[in-house]
Amino acid sequence: MKKVAFLGGGKIGKAMAEHVMENKSADIAFVYDPFIKDTSICGAKVVSKLDAGMLEGLDLVVECATAEVLKEYAEMALAFCDVMPFSMTAFRDDAWRECVEKAAAAHGTSVYLPHGAILGLDGISDGQSVLTEVSIETIKNPKSLGREDAVRTVVYEGPTREAAGLYPRNVNVHAAVALAGIGFDRTHSKIISDPDVNTNTHLIHLAGQGIDFTIRVSSFSEGGVSGKYVPLSACGSLDRVLGGFGFRFV
Ligand SMILES: NC(=O)c1ccc[n+]([C@@H]2O[C@H](COP(=O)([O-])OP(=O)(O)OC[C@H]3O[C@@H](n4cnc5c(N)ncnc54)[C@H](O)[C@@H]3O)[C@@H](O)[C@H]2O)c1
Repeated sequence: MKKVAFLGGGKIGKAMAEHVMENKSADIAFVYDPFIKDTSICGAKVVSKLDAGMLEGLDLVVECATAEVLKEYAEMALAFCDVMPFSMTAFRDDAWRECVEKAAAAHGTSVYLPHGAILGLDGISDGQSVLTEVSIETIKNPKSLGREDAVRTVVYEGPTREAAGLYPRNVNVHAAVALAGIGFDRTHSKIISDPDVNTNTHLIHLAGQGIDFTIRVSSFSEGGVSGKYVPLSACGSLDRVLGGFGFRFV
């Protein structure tokens, strides 16, 4: 059975740990999260410190904490095993991203990029060579953005690279699309704060030579940064990475 560890035991981490425990689909070595007081979540051991020795023998590290955590541990983890990151805004840093790619190549390990809050990241990446225009509009309740707007407000419009720096916990979808598509400078981001919505909605438009896609995803916001769909999506991505038998959507 494959051995996994989670960095972050919040909404996404807990959902995946529970899923793995229920389905007995992997051994959970530990959940690294210094802010969790309990010694275990869903039967998985919680640890508050992480060092390279703890990564020996693992097959997969899943980061579901923050962009800083991903930046701190991705290269170290890739020396031992594959990595699946959720804090995609970290990839706005090109120099670091290149180091991560080099580490994976040097150690023969992989970075599995999950579709997270949206659909079709694989399809966007497949069309990368012909894409010329990509834009994403996200509409969230001000609370999700850490704001207190009383009326609908456009809080950002411009390149995705800056959006990912300003709202690292809220525009992972923008970062993921930029990474799969035409990059952080050519992808156009718009973030709207709307006190009348209780959903996280992403409207993505991609166009290029002979292709034109519109993707609209809306997911109920249960508070926090992730909507209702993300834990389901995360468990699906984890299952695909862990492998298995029978019918498999890829
Ligand atoms: N890729 C996507 O589409 C997508 C969608 C939603 C959320 N996200 C991102 O995924 C990550 C997790 O989301 P979530 O909803 O589970 O968030 P969450 O706030 O519920 O959980 C994050 C967890 O990380 C822990 N954490 C914080 N700092 C840490 C540190 N230094 N070391 C270890 N653990 C630390 C927190 O204690 C918390 O338990 C966030 O970065 C979020 O922005 C990505």
